[in-house]
Amino acid sequence: MNGLRLDAVSRYLAWAKLNATARFNLAASGVLDYPLAELPVHIEDLEIGGTGPYGYRPLMERLAAKAGVPTECVVYTLGTSMANFVALTALVHRGDDVLVERPTYDPLLTVLDYIGAKVCRFERLPENGFRLRPEELERKLTPQTRLVILCNLHNPSGALTDESTLRQVGAIAAKVGARVLVDEVYLETLFEQSWRSAFHLGENFVVTSSLTKAYGLSGIRCGWILAEPELVQRMWQVVDFTYGIPAHPAELLGVIALDNLDRVRARARALLETNRVLVNEFLVRHGELDCDPSRFGTTVFPRLKAGRTAEFVGILREQFETSVVPGEFFEQPQHFRIGFCGATETVRGGLERLSAALGAFR
Ligand SMILES: Cc1ncc(COP(=O)(O)O)c(C=O)c1O
Repeated sequence: MNGLRLDAVSRYLAWAKLNATARFNLAASGVLDYPLAELPVHIEDLEIGGTGPYGYRPLMERLAAKAGVPTECVVYTLGTSMANFVALTALVHRGDDVLVERPTYDPLLTVLDYIGAKVCRFERLPENGFRLRPEELERKLTPQTRLVILCNLHNPSGALTDESTLRQVGAIAAKVGARVLVDEVYLETLFEQSWRSAFHLGENFVVTSSLTKAYGLSGIRCGWILAEPELVQRMWQVVDFTYGIPAHPAELLGVIALDNLDRVRARARALLETNRVLVNEFLVRHGELDCDPSRFGTTVFPRLKAGRTAEFVGILREQFETSVVPGEFFEQPQHFRIGFCGATETVRGGLERLSAALGAFR
């Protein structure tokens, strides 16, 4: 009896893989793919084999330098997905109490279900701009809580949690000996302001992230975990019995991407700045929706004030060739998520169709 919930599924990811595509895809949350041809990659730069036992050294050094931590605090992973899986498997045991924000990224709940954790929730409220409220989190914490989980930026709303709030969360969790796992995959989209990882804010922070969402580099799967060295050892053991070793060509591409991150960042920043203006203009025009303007990230999460959102989203896809993510996947059925990180023409076209669909839905 191993205690694993073998029937655990992420309904959201299955939906995203099979149903999210449409001519105007506003369901994605990662920046449009960066063309390989625009990276200075030559076939002789790539090799089949050559990784290190626990990470390819040049890549580990670059990831550590990027985060401002020693390499002993880094685990290289396949995207944030594997970072979350490895981190949670190392941090949580069957029956442990884990406190997770709501709404959240569904696969985090699935992994906890798979492990057999006891999940409790704290709320981020739409009327508060989905801001994280430490007092609400403290109310839900128990002496048995082992781990608190949040995303910064928040998925689906894009809300930013600042350092002082995160420090409070760390201190509250520390009172009961709990750690805080912060998924920072969207924090990488804060191109215009300097930021540092929550890992630096206290000893009980563990961070997961990747180059996938902010840079259009999802296919390289360059992800990482930041944790204290003892935990890092345990996480590498989890890597040993899951994917074992990574794809070395992907590690080499990760090194090239990190060495050229400025140009990749400039393209993503320009795209998101342009598209953010479009989505904010759209939100101002639509009183049928309740939503703060976007300030950060790649998505917004409006509430449809009247009518069934699931029905609206279906009509939008079938009659207007436009996909968004139904709020049910974030446990907020009256909301839907708009991603504005695709090509500007796609975002413009999708928003026009969204307007038309809202008009027709009245
Ligand atoms: C909060 C969050 N974490 C992790 C992931 C997965 O990221 P990756 O593509 O790096 O595996 C996503 C993808 O949507 C996400 O929204």
